[in-house]
Amino acid sequence: MRITTLVEDTATKPKLLAEHGLSMLIETGKDNILFDTGQFLSLFYNAKVLKIDLSKVDRIVLSHGHYDHTGGLKKLLSKTGKVDIYAHPDVFAPKYAKGKERDRYIGIPYKKEELESRGAVFHLSREPTPITDNIMTTGEIERVTDFEPISDDLCVMRDGQLQKDDLLDDQALIIKNNNSAVVVLGCTHAGLVNTLQHICELTEEADISMIIGGTHLLHADKCRIKRTMDALFGFGVKKVATSHCTGTRASATFLDAFGCNFIENHVGTQITF
Ligand SMILES: [Fe+2]
Ligand SMILES: [Fe+2]
Repeated sequence: MRITTLVEDTATKPKLLAEHGLSMLIETGKDNILFDTGQFLSLFYNAKVLKIDLSKVDRIVLSHGHYDHTGGLKKLLSKTGKVDIYAHPDVFAPKYAKGKERDRYIGIPYKKEELESRGAVFHLSREPTPITDNIMTTGEIERVTDFEPISDDLCVMRDGQLQKDDLLDDQALIIKNNNSAVVVLGCTHAGLVNTLQHICELTEEADISMIIGGTHLLHADKCRIKRTMDALFGFGVKKVATSHCTGTRASATFLDAFGCNFIENHVGTQITF
């Protein structure tokens, strides 16, 4: 199993481009699953530099509907042709970010029909969904903690009015590996502890050995980060490879706690297990 980060906010290797967003390719040896697509440009550029053939992607999973995870879809379809895409039904909700001067559309930048006409075959479900024999989505994540709120600035347009977006479409991927679970995270708007708690209840794996991807801790205070860290140890997490919306404070705390088992997951990072 190999996971390659193709789009991420930071790039430190020669020739690769950084972009605000996330996309990771999961190669099982049999299946090629792309988890999110970044905003638009860097997915195709970075794949070329890394000699990854995106026409071989046979399944796409979307973590949620924000543009920085879904913007690459249209061009990607020109490479894959007909392809199965797994997401939550709210992935197409009209999402906005409230701004001081103006509100900004931050949802998926395409209509569902437009993508379908280019070969997208959508499987939209709130339930956990199998992607391969040992990979599944979390489906909708129950919110159980009292310290992982969603920003009031993230909204959805309903009946002509902006209302708070609970981001029920936010989901992660679970890879079953040697009696433990490896978790691939998109933006984790649902909260990292909520997400891992949900996974513990879903799977029969003994623990969660590794988390990879965005953790949405960039605005978290010290108290939330401490509670998150305590929970990670409780879930048995041994390796952390975080990206995107994790933020400097949380990354520093992960580095302190996990030492050489903390990976700064930039564009071009490859994780094998
Ligand atoms: Fe997001
Ligand atoms: Fe994001």
